[in-house]
Amino acid sequence: MKRKDSFRRTSLVWLYFALVAVLILVIVTLLLSAVLFLLFRRGEIPPGPAGMFPIEFAVILGAILGTVVTILIVKQIFQPIGRLSKGLRRVSAGDFSVRLNEKSMFAAIREMYGDFNAMAAELAGVETLRSDFVSNVSHEFKTPLAAIEGYAALLQNKGLSSERAEDYLQKIVSNARKLSVLTGNILNLSKLENRQSLPDARPFDLSEQIRKAILMLESEWEAKNITFDLSLPDVRYCGNEGILFHVWYNLIANAVKFSGQNGAVRIELRTAPGKVCVTVEDHGCGIDEKTLPHIFEKFYQGDASRSAEGNGLGLALVKRVVTLCGGEVLVCSEAGKGSAFTVTLPSGT
Ligand SMILES: Nc1ncnc2c1ncn2[C@@H]1O[C@H](COP(=O)(O)OP(=O)(O)O)[C@@H](O)[C@H]1O
Ligand SMILES: [Mg+2]
Repeated sequence: MKRKDSFRRTSLVWLYFALVAVLILVIVTLLLSAVLFLLFRRGEIPPGPAGMFPIEFAVILGAILGTVVTILIVKQIFQPIGRLSKGLRRVSAGDFSVRLNEKSMFAAIREMYGDFNAMAAELAGVETLRSDFVSNVSHEFKTPLAAIEGYAALLQNKGLSSERAEDYLQKIVSNARKLSVLTGNILNLSKLENRQSLPDARPFDLSEQIRKAILMLESEWEAKNITFDLSLPDVRYCGNEGILFHVWYNLIANAVKFSGQNGAVRIELRTAPGKVCVTVEDHGCGIDEKTLPHIFEKFYQGDASRSAEGNGLGLALVKRVVTLCGGEVLVCSEAGKGSAFTVTLPSGT
């Protein structure tokens, strides 16, 4: 309703201007005629040919003066439109930093400038996201590709010992795996980017899916001797099974990755009327206040020392999937103490 009103008001701008111009012209002509008439009555203006008030003279002088005043005032009104057009030209040339001063005595101009500024800000945000995404993706691909190329070149050396060769092969395999996870994450994210909902909803056992995700990460948690405290009652959930798996996998992978040696991870699945909640809690390094607002951004990695182990896409994917399911992710974390991620999904029951 408000949008419709504002559209009508903006599209009537030309009418405002025309009315203002005519009004100024009429007022100036009338005022001038009145002044001239007074002067005529006092005998300070000579009478016309028939001894009458020279009305033609008053009208002509009024029209000339009125036009000058109208031009001056309308110029003031049209200046903001000129500024808007200049701004639009800069935006179309790719400069999204331009902003217009929203101070004006006309509500329509204030609104138009406000809309322009909002548009420029939105475009600037999209542009930053796009260029960051492209440079991040290229960088993330370049590093493992360069490593694979380098180790493969070293392997061509005929006199290499078998241990060295084994080591290089291992590095090639792990970098290739990294590339494959990265590609998978990017593909998943871009597939979900323009969707409004998830397809193929079918009922499945949520607790079993979470157990599968834990098992898939066995080599990681075994290497750190991490213990699990599980509370996973049987819960059937109706949704896209394949995509939801990424949520638990990424949350548990993070809990393991950011836990120390001999750490403990608690995973709890519970139901409430109309929803299911899953909490993944660790007692690892936690997240500081500066990092916390950014963890769901694509390619954001808070801990530089562990950045080689991931690509900063895990939580972005978690957030996207959970949002598409109509749910939410809450984080409770304290630096040095640990983190708890709680996913709440509507269960439709
Ligand atoms: N359980 C956790 N404990 C501490 N920090 C975490 C945890 N989960 C996520 N983070 C922070 O959020 C960032 C983004 O996580 P994510 O998107 O999974 O990327 P990645 O795991 O590849 O670094 C991590 O780099 C880390 O700083
Ligand atoms: Mg991760």
